[in-house]
Amino acid sequence: MPQPICAYTLPNNPESVGRARAWVRIMLTAAGREDLIDSALLIMSELATNTAVHATQSDMIKIVCEVDGDTLTLGVIDYDERQPILLTVREDDERGRGLKIVDALCDEWGCSPCDGGKIVFGLLHLHAHALQPSAIRPHPQPHAFA
Ligand SMILES: Nc1ncnc2c1ncn2[C@@H]1O[C@H](COP(=O)(O)OP(=O)(O)O)[C@@H](O)[C@H]1O
Ligand SMILES: [Mg+2]
Repeated sequence: MPQPICAYTLPNNPESVGRARAWVRIMLTAAGREDLIDSALLIMSELATNTAVHATQSDMIKIVCEVDGDTLTLGVIDYDERQPILLTVREDDERGRGLKIVDALCDEWGCSPCDGGKIVFGLLHLHAHALQPSAIRPHPQPHAFA
């Protein structure tokens, strides 16, 4: 994964998860991709929650949300050597589904060395998530029951 150009530094704690979501919303609104906000916020929630819960040796995190060419990159950089693991869960397991959500929503995801630590990232290939005309201008509503 190329080094991200733009990252937002936050303390590694649960309060930062909401701030990370808010930043992703701002970045995607600025990029004109409001249609991706719902998925992107879910992905960022899981990645940032994971650093707060699992990357406990990292005091700080860096949030990445970058549209570059055809790719939206969402990621969280931390400084804890432990790696993310896509777990196999049973119906009644209470935990272990965060990365499954990331896996389901992203076209690709992974973990790479980055900035002296690691980045857990998810990628959306924008050609596979083309802007729908309805996202730009609402269709006129038919008078179905007139
Ligand atoms: N940033 C991270 N640093 C270290 N370990 C991680 C990180 N993200 C995920 N993990 C590991 O991957 C596992 C699976 O994560 P996840 O699917 O989100 O389930 P959960 O968070 O409920 O355990 C975690 O239990 C943890 O062991
Ligand atoms: Mg998790």
